[in-house]
Order: sequence, then structure tokens, then C-alpha cells
Amino acid sequence: MARGPDAVAVLRQVMASAKYAGLDEGFVRRIADEASDRFTDQNAAVKYAKRKLHQAFGAFVTGSLGDGVRACASAIGSGVPVRAACLASMRRHASTAERAVVLAQFYQQIETWCGRPSTVADLACGLGPLAIPWLSTGPDATYWCCDVDRDLISALPGLSAPFGVTVVAESRDLVRPASLPRAELVLLLKALSTLEQQRGGAARDVLAALDAPRVVVSLSRGSLSRRRRYTDDPLEMIGTAAAGSDYQLAGQAAFGDEALFLLERCRR
Ligand SMILES: C[S@@+](CC[C@H](N)C(=O)[O-])C[C@H]1O[C@@H](n2cnc3c(N)ncnc32)[C@H](O)[C@@H]1O
Repeated sequence: MARGPDAVAVLRQVMASAKYAGLDEGFVRRIADEASDRFTDQNAAVKYAKRKLHQAFGAFVTGSLGDGVRACASAIGSGVPVRAACLASMRRHASTAERAVVLAQFYQQIETWCGRPSTVADLACGLGPLAIPWLSTGPDATYWCCDVDRDLISALPGLSAPFGVTVVAESRDLVRPASLPRAELVLLLKALSTLEQQRGGAARDVLAALDAPRVVVSLSRGSLSRRRRYTDDPLEMIGTAAAGSDYQLAGQAAFGDEALFLLERCRR
């Protein structure tokens, strides 16, 4: 009987590539398992897994995100103005960088909606934590964040001293159910489409796992390549993700190519 691809071998082959070697192993294993279930040929499974990792992670990244964070902290330590150092490092993550020209208005809108939270959770954060200097926070604030890039995650707490905010970072695969920390504000910026591409229903499951009175969700209104749109109707996607959850739509705005939504908890 013909045997399908060996999922462990697919995982090893994918993680042998320098681009993906630093990713959360559980995240890559999930994708390697899916690839092995889908194909009978080992090379086809590896190719598929790499394509999924490119969509979920590689497409956004230039160079090392961890190095970008360390360079930012070191530049601030050498006297470079905080916001200038952040903007320079943000360029390494296409999604975060797209927001650079509207940062002031973007985070002003979040302050108008959410005030000055002392606990923030930024899910699938990319280089979003480099925008902390634009976010209004309360005293002794903690900024919890997660993504699938282990080197990025190990570098992010190094922003605590320069920013005067406690930055706590965890490597997490948000497609796998797990509890998330309680926070006054959750940021889910340009993350739902990426999660939904990985597994139908993942966006809804993440919203269901949240423990926060307010969630700010954003969706990109065009793909990085501009060849196609992630979703023709961001509002419809938010409605589908929030249907049956504890959240209801309480505000919306748009900045550049990004549609921004405020969800408020209506039960509990
Ligand atoms: C479009 S980017 C958004 C980044 C950031 N939130 C922002 O708007 O600047 C999507 C992010 O999701 C992360 N990601 C993709 N799949 C993930 C998963 N399953 N679990 C956690 N993070 C994931 C990627 O590494 C990437 O940083």
C-alpha cells in the first residue's frame, strides 16, 4: 500500500530553510501535518507547507524582525528620538509599515474609543509593539503580545525599558485553541484574514477566546501585492467572526488601506 508523506520529515525539511527555522515549532508542525494529510507526494507536501508559511508569515517580513527590535532599542539607548527609531525598524514588517504614515490618527482613534488602558493584548503582533509610543496607556501599563516568530518574541521584552511599559511576549499559534490573558484592550490588527486563511472559523474562535471588554480589529482593504483583495467586504467578515460571540460592533473608521472596528463585550 502506498504511504503518504512523513509529517515529521515535512516539518524537518521546512524548518531547515533559514526563513522558517525561527518559527514556533507547534505552528509549523500544524501546517506540516495538514500538508501531509493533503498530499501523497513528499515534495508536494513540503511545497504546500512552504506556500502556507509564506502566506501566513514570510510575505510580510524583510530580514530579521528580532534584529529590527534590538536595533530600535539600541538606537534609543544611543539618543535617537524614540519615534524615529521605531519608524526606522517598522519597515521590516510590511503590514506594520503600511500604517506608519497614519500612526498618529490611528492611535488617536483608539484612545477616543478605549481611553488609556493599563493592560493591552496585541495578537499576531508583527512589529505592532513598535507603535507603543503612539498608544495612550494608563499607569504601570503591561503590553502582552504574541506571534509565531520566536526570535521576535525573545527580542520584544527589550522594549520595556525604552518605552516605560512592561512588554511581555509569547510565541503562540492562534489557530490552536488556548486561553488568552485578560486585558482592558485587545488589538487584532490585520490578523483575522491571515488566521481565517489558515483555518475556516479561526477568526470566530479567537474572538470567542478573548477576555476583554474592548477589542479593536482591523482588516486590510487590499492585499500586499494589490492583485486581489483579502475580503471584498470587511464589515461582513467582522459580522461573521463576531456572530454568536460576546461582542458587538460599536464603532468603525478607516485609515489609508486599513478598516478599523471597535467591538464591545455585550455579555458577562
Ligand atoms: C498581516 S500581519 C499583521 C501584523 C500586525 N498585527 C500589524 O498589523 O502590524 C499578520 C501577522 O500574523 C502572524 N501570524 C500568522 N499566523 C499566525 C498564527 N497562526 N498565530 C499567531 N500569529 C500568526 C504573522 O507572523 C504576522 O506577523
